[in-house]
Amino acid sequence: LTLWLFSILKLLNVRRLLFPQRDIYLVEYSLSTSPFVRNRYTHMQYEDRCDINCSAVYEQDPLEIGKSLEIRQRDIIDLDDEDVVAITSDCEVYQAIRRYHQKLASREEKEFPIAYSLVVHKDAIMVERLIRAIYSHHNIYCIHYDHKSPDTFKVAMNNLAKCFSNVFIASKLESVEYAHISRLQADLNCLSDLLRSSVQWKYVINLCGQDFPLKSNFELVSELKRLNGGNMLETVKPPNSKKERFTYHHELRQVPYEYVKLPIRTNLSKEEPPHNIEIFVGSAYFVLSQAFVQYILNNSLVKDFFAWSKDTYSPDEHFWATLIRVPGIPGEISRTSQDVSDLQSKTRLVKWNYHEGLLYPSCTGSHLRSVCIYGAAELRWLIKDGHWFANKFDSKVDPVLIKCLAEKLEEQQKEWITLSSEKIFMGTKPTVPS
Ligand SMILES: *[C@@H]1O[C@H](CO)[C@@H](O)[C@H](O)[C@H]1NC(C)=O
Ligand SMILES: *[C@@H]1O[C@H](CO)[C@@H](O)[C@H](O)[C@H]1NC(C)=O
Ligand SMILES: *[C@@H]1O[C@H](CO)[C@@H](O)[C@H](O)[C@H]1NC(C)=O
Repeated sequence: LTLWLFSILKLLNVRRLLFPQRDIYLVEYSLSTSPFVRNRYTHMQYEDRCDINCSAVYEQDPLEIGKSLEIRQRDIIDLDDEDVVAITSDCEVYQAIRRYHQKLASREEKEFPIAYSLVVHKDAIMVERLIRAIYSHHNIYCIHYDHKSPDTFKVAMNNLAKCFSNVFIASKLESVEYAHISRLQADLNCLSDLLRSSVQWKYVINLCGQDFPLKSNFELVSELKRLNGGNMLETVKPPNSKKERFTYHHELRQVPYEYVKLPIRTNLSKEEPPHNIEIFVGSAYFVLSQAFVQYILNNSLVKDFFAWSKDTYSPDEHFWATLIRVPGIPGEISRTSQDVSDLQSKTRLVKWNYHEGLLYPSCTGSHLRSVCIYGAAELRWLIKDGHWFANKFDSKVDPVLIKCLAEKLEEQQKEWITLSSEKIFMGTKPTVPS
């Protein structure tokens, strides 16, 4: 028997040598080892926790950046949708765990509510982190989740919305297909709900689940005030390569071997856009004034243009860019004035691999369809760069970056509040240096 046991042990040892188990890293260590989640990692040792000093990451301390690289080699375990359902099932407990009571706001922020349209479809914990990062008690948040999303994800979103009077689910949910008009419709559903809310928001910002803010709410308010009622989005003359997207009729078709539907170009030419509208292209992401939203949601030209856009490719990437150029629209940018590129409009930072090293430093995370998923070494650069939001973030690629970015923004919010209350006391108005 001893001999048998010995050989078994030896065999196990050999197996371990041949297939070394990767260390695991728990993104939410204290939650993942607590009774609040469904999938518990109670066998984890406290030493496995691997604390990160975010100030050192921000200062680009090689030792701390090295630690983040080591973490990325591990098996990264984040909360799954079931866990998010569990932690949000009791709102009081949830708000306490996530320290919502510590969110502070200045008088300027309270007098300047911001609305958000969040179009999301997966990875509940990333959405939860995003909401926590942009949350302020006097703002208003609309969540649109995909009709096709898994049920657990939907329950997680419903739970989140139930926990806050200023977070709600869109009254109409679309089945969102990539590059299809349904993506645009999802935002429009939220915009229309947001207009009907009692919160008198000044601006609306749309985000997706892989986005994260680069500025605190305090800074966003002071930046928005500087827009002076104008809108901020990318709007450029369409390059020839993109013209096909709206000069041909497209049809939504199942793509072979991929479980997605895509608008596919047919050989039917489209008619010219209605009302002599001149097409501009840009990003699907915007910062829009309430006046602009009010105007477009009750306007026959916009309705005709939306209908015309239904069979184009990725209409959200020309809809806003075009409307902002329509004469007479609130915050109009004249058709003859020059392009507003994605780097000039500070709305959204996206790093494309073919511009890396030229327009911005290289990506330190990984890439998904030419887009950078940021890494921890970019923390300082992201915050200093001046954009308001960035895409893409993924805790499975670099959990340290997201944790440190959230921590840094919280810290900055507290600093601004302290500074502004001191200045109010001294009778001067606080300003945010650029
Ligand atoms: C974290 O790093 C900063 C900057 O490198 C350093 O000043 C601070 O003492 C560190 N904190 C801890 C707890 O090690
Ligand atoms: C293109 O149009 C012609 C008729 O003009 C039609 O016969 C053909 O099937 C079309 N091709 C595709 C790929 O749709
Ligand atoms: C536009 O708004 C006005 C007043 O708010 C309303 O009477 C009218 O029916 C609306 N028009 C459309 C097309 O929704």
